[in-house]
Amino acid sequence: MNILEGIRTVDQLEVENKRVFVRVDFNVPMEDGKITDDTRIREALPTIEALRAKGAKIVLGSHMGRPKPGKREGLSLVPAGERLAELAGVEVHVPDDCIGKTAQKVIFDLRPGQICLLENLRFHEEEEKNDEGFARELAALADAYVCDAFGALHRAHASVHALPRLFRDRAAGHLVMKEIRSLGRLLESREHPYVAVLGGAKVSDKITVIEALLERCDAILIGGAMANTFLAAKGLNMQKSLVEGEKLPLARTLMEKAAARKVELLLPTDFVVGESIKAAEGKVVAANAVPEGTMALDIGPESVAAFGAKCKDAALVFWNGPMGLFEQPAFSNGTFGLAKALTESTGFTVVGGGDSAAAVQAAGGDIASKFGHISTGGGASLELIEGKKLPGIEALRP
Ligand code: 3PG
Repeated sequence: MNILEGIRTVDQLEVENKRVFVRVDFNVPMEDGKITDDTRIREALPTIEALRAKGAKIVLGSHMGRPKPGKREGLSLVPAGERLAELAGVEVHVPDDCIGKTAQKVIFDLRPGQICLLENLRFHEEEEKNDEGFARELAALADAYVCDAFGALHRAHASVHALPRLFRDRAAGHLVMKEIRSLGRLLESREHPYVAVLGGAKVSDKITVIEALLERCDAILIGGAMANTFLAAKGLNMQKSLVEGEKLPLARTLMEKAAARKVELLLPTDFVVGESIKAAEGKVVAANAVPEGTMALDIGPESVAAFGAKCKDAALVFWNGPMGLFEQPAFSNGTFGLAKALTESTGFTVVGGGDSAAAVQAAGGDIASKFGHISTGGGASLELIEGKKLPGIEALRP
């Protein structure tokens, strides 16, 4: 299955001296006005460099956060522009609005190879409403369109969905192509053993992805608070642990489906427990002996070893969702231990974006560089794996 079939690539566009609108995802994590992870900006460089080399005038558009109407604080793209300027070694102009006279003037003055980064597209409510009029105003700023915002492909928003269809010349950028190529392998059932490791807090967030993976995987390993719900459904007393009571029947159904399809569903056999999510220390206990007054906050060493061993000989591994409260040192061993174990896998290892990508970066050393692919998209990678059509891809089709 080639999801990008028929879609042009950025390298196939004639862009010399033309203004090219490039939708990027510069929605990067920030703390106290500083970017804490610039991966999304770095990953946009191949497309930006390719366009600069061909003499295009580059107009970048992105969202940042989820601004409430009239609220801009902390959500400007100026820091992203500064970081891009450092990385690309070129000046980046950031007009204070993505449409209107100032933006038009900055873009009019661009020379080939120069870059303008428009201010946060979501400062206009019309962006999230996929508003055609807003898309037309953006379209007036450019001659061609390139989508390289993998992380936003699942959003039917104006700059991702309505806008590309207003251009005859529209194409996919290098990051989008790379992501689809790597994640596309997870949609097929060609490489076996195929193992998925899922974590995170809630079963309800992952139902559709578990169902999709049950069709393709040989084994699904479940960690994070989500595992509590499965174990409670099997009758274990999880004490104070987070359990989605109303999802117990669903967890049972998923376990039955796995058994019927002969998909191994592995749950943790031990946990690191604490008295609350603020606990500074944890204690390793068996999964069937969580002490009264405590909650499971990470998977234990035996589970990490069992999960790691399953992944070691797999041909394809997909990991999404942390194994525990990895932001706290006492409960980080499960997630970081799994990240390390995955680097020993001989297969192609893929990390879905969001929290798990952040965890791999936080695991330290050169762990991140040893993965086959770390997605820059959280929701987008999950929707792709679920087999859903992504609005940002559909809008690029001829
Ligand atoms: C992400 O961070 O997953 C993307 O940038 C999309 O952001 P959103 O969930 O706010 O649409």
